[in-house]
Amino acid sequence: MKKQNVIFSLAAITALLFACSKKQAEELKPATPTDPTPVTTANVTYSNFAGALFQTKCSSCHGSNGAIASVWLFNGIASIKNDARVVNAVLVTKTMPKGGTITASERALLQAWVDKGMPE
Ligand code: HEC
Repeated sequence: MKKQNVIFSLAAITALLFACSKKQAEELKPATPTDPTPVTTANVTYSNFAGALFQTKCSSCHGSNGAIASVWLFNGIASIKNDARVVNAVLVTKTMPKGGTITASERALLQAWVDKGMPE
């Protein structure tokens, strides 16, 4: 092979390798997640916020397997809507969640959800 051809071949191979690795890197890049709409006091619902809050903050004691289920059983939105003690305990007397906390912003979102009539 002529020296010129060798150089050309090497250049071609290098270009090919570079193109491959570049393509691979692009494929490995995770898909950009579509930004979830942030929950605000204007759009708060049971499904985008309140349900998860009760699930994480209350169900350990008040879920169907919880030790305090007999006092109040958390089993979905109706168990909150139909029992005035729930909102009272969290937002008025603030005795619940017992042994836990909810942040000021969680409280504000929960209050907004209650004020809007507890939308699903
Ligand atoms: C660590 C366990 C525990 C957690 C977590 C907990 N509770 Fe309670 N809850 C209790 C106990 C124990 C009682 C019985 C009364 C008391 O000891 O204050 C009670 C009583 C209640 C009552 C009925 C009495 C009242 O205060 O009117 C309601 C309603 C209630 N809890 C709601 C909630 C809600 C809502 C959450 C979550 C935000 C929650 N609890 C989290 C333990 C818990």
